[in-house]
Amino acid sequence: MPHLSLLSAPTPIEELTRLREALGTGPRLFAKRDDTIPFGFGGNKVRKLEYVAADAKAKKADTLVTVGGVQSNHARATASVAAKLGMHCHLVINGQKPERLAANALLNALLGAEVEYIPSRVERAAASEAAMERLRQQGRNPYFVPLGASMPLGALGYVRAVGELLDQMSAPDTIVLATSSGGTLAGLVAGCALHGLHTRIIGVSADDPAAEIKETVGRIVSGVGELLSPGEEMSAPRPFIVDDSFVGDGYGVPSDASREAQQLMARNEAIFVDHTYTAKALAALIAYVRAARFRDDETLLFWHTGGQVGIFA
Ligand SMILES: Cc1ncc(COP(=O)(O)O)c(C=O)c1O
Repeated sequence: MPHLSLLSAPTPIEELTRLREALGTGPRLFAKRDDTIPFGFGGNKVRKLEYVAADAKAKKADTLVTVGGVQSNHARATASVAAKLGMHCHLVINGQKPERLAANALLNALLGAEVEYIPSRVERAAASEAAMERLRQQGRNPYFVPLGASMPLGALGYVRAVGELLDQMSAPDTIVLATSSGGTLAGLVAGCALHGLHTRIIGVSADDPAAEIKETVGRIVSGVGELLSPGEEMSAPRPFIVDDSFVGDGYGVPSDASREAQQLMARNEAIFVDHTYTAKALAALIAYVRAARFRDDETLLFWHTGGQVGIFA
């Protein structure tokens, strides 16, 4: 499948020996550091956009259009890719324009993205369709990137990432990661299925109910199967899990557990996690270890999906 080379892969894998010591006992802990992708401040969206933006380029698009919240990492990654490819970027952002631009919102401005603010996420679909139409009328050739680039083509970035991981270490017993629009989890599930791995994959929701995310992930996994071998069903050797019990008071709202996870990771490993996504996933991992859900001889991989820019919001 055609894809751009934005990643500088492989991203490092680090053993989290001090975090493990701080937790007392438990499985060996590792982190896959997609937060260290140099391109555009990195994170999981870069892997997905390698495929999606290659498609946009093949279709001779001159503008990338996408949606997200004010501090969307996906919007910033899309604006970065557009800048790098010499394309325009139109962001439909739900939320109020901040009085002082910071973090991802500031980077979007630096990257030259055109930002249209809408009141709430329910208007995303209508506003982005209207933006696409407006751009066409202006003679542009816009390409719509769905929320989080969570479409089968985007998930291919994480299908490939499983192969990258297996070149670095033997398959971990469990992978824990943050999940929201589902593309990252779907890519890992499909990648593990293709490699015949029995790795347990746990997505920790940043916002939506587990049932909703599971359905979306299932749909994207089928789409990946269709892309790679049309007509063949893709089935995972082991069902994946979505845990929505660490959302706390809502999307982007810190919880006591996410605050503790953020501090433990920073003070033991000098690795930074954000309250919207990665600190909540890490909080879940810590809770699982404390509840002795894994044996000490197992390996547990925290897939760090980025989001560190959000710390400066
Ligand atoms: C830092 C970070 N981690 C995890 C996620 C969740 O990934 P996905 O949307 O593929 O489920 C996102 C984006 O939504 C993110 O920005």
